[in-house]
Amino acid sequence: MQKVLTGLQPTGELTIGNYIGSIKQMIELQNDYDSYIFIADLHAITLPQQPEVLKKRIREVLALYIACGIDPEKNTIYVQSENEYIPCISWLLECNTYYGEASRMIQFKEKSKKNANFSVGLLTYPILMAADILYLDTDYVPVGIDQKQHVEIARDIADRFNKTYGETFHLPQPLIRNSGAKIKDLKDPTKKMSKSSENPNSSIRLLDPPEKIRKKIMAATTDSESSIHYDPEKKPGISNLLTICSVFSNQSISDLENQFKGKNYGEFKRYVADVLCEKLSEIQTKYEQLLNSNQLDEICEKGIQKARELAKEKYELMKDKMGLIRK
Ligand code: AMP
Ligand code: TRP
Repeated sequence: MQKVLTGLQPTGELTIGNYIGSIKQMIELQNDYDSYIFIADLHAITLPQQPEVLKKRIREVLALYIACGIDPEKNTIYVQSENEYIPCISWLLECNTYYGEASRMIQFKEKSKKNANFSVGLLTYPILMAADILYLDTDYVPVGIDQKQHVEIARDIADRFNKTYGETFHLPQPLIRNSGAKIKDLKDPTKKMSKSSENPNSSIRLLDPPEKIRKKIMAATTDSESSIHYDPEKKPGISNLLTICSVFSNQSISDLENQFKGKNYGEFKRYVADVLCEKLSEIQTKYEQLLNSNQLDEICEKGIQKARELAKEKYELMKDKMGLIRK
C-alpha cells in the first residue's frame, strides 16, 4: 500500500486554509493509503514559542485533527518530538545537504528577513522536514503550495543520498490540490490566509464561534462588480469565497456560480457563512469531547510506537551505509 504523510505546526489556531490545504486531503486519502499525520512541534520551535502555550496547542491540534475527521483507526497519529530518531536522521541528512541549497528556500528567505536574530533551525527546517518524510519512504505528501519547495528539496536530498551511498530512500512527491492550494486572506485576497496573521478578521479559525464566522465572511473584501463568478485574477475575493464554499459544501464551483446567477454578494456571503457554520460547529462539538479524554493519549501512544520503530530502522540503515559503525 502506498504511503501518505503530512504534518502541521502547533503554532496558532488552525484556519480553514490548513483544513483545506492539508487536513481535508488526508481525510480524502485515508481509505486508500497507509496514512501518517503528526504534530510538527520541532518545526514550531524554529521561531520563538512560549512553552506553556506550545504545550496547550499540541493537544488542541491533535484533538482538532480527529474532530475534523482524521480517523485514528486508519491513520498513524503522533507528536514529532516524541520520535527521537527524527533529529538523528535529520543530522545525517544535513551533512548531505548544501548550505546554498538550504539558504535558497523561499520560506527561509522570508522568515529570516522578518526576524533580526533568527535561529540556525530556521535554515535547517526543510532538512528536518525531509527526515519526517524520508524515514517512512513516503509516496505522497499532501500540503499547501507554500510547502511544495520543501517536499522537492526532500526529494533532491533523497536522490543524492541514494546516488552517493546506494538505494536507501523512496522519492516522495508533493500532493497539491488544484482548487484550494492557497486559500487567501479575507481582508487582502492577494495574500495567503495564515494562522499567524495579525488581523484576526483575515482568517476563519476552525474554532471560531458562528457569530464571528458570519461577521468575518460578511466583511470579506470583494470587488465593485456584482457578478458571482470564478476569476482569481480579476475577482480574487469572490473566487476565494467560491473555493472555500465549494470545499465545505461539496458542490462544484460551477454549480455555485449557477446557483448564484443574478444574486447579490450579500446573499452569496450569507450562504458561505451558513455552510461554514454548519460544518465547523460539528467539528467543534467533537473537539470539545476529545480535548480532555484519555482517548487522545491512547491514540498518540499507539502512533508513536509505530513511527519510532520505522524511524529506528531507517536510521540504522543510514548509519550502516555511511560507515557509522564500530565493527
Ligand atoms: P502551517 O500553517 O504553515 O503549519 O501549514 C500547515 C499546512 O497547511 C501546510 O500543508 C500548508 O501548506 C497548509 N496551509 C496553510 N495555510 C494554507 C492556505 N491558506 N491555503 C492552503 N493551504 C494552507
Ligand atoms: N513544514 C510544514 C508546515 O509548516 C509542517 C511539516 C513538517 C510537514 N514536517 C512535514 C508537512 C512533513 C508535510 C510533511 O506546514
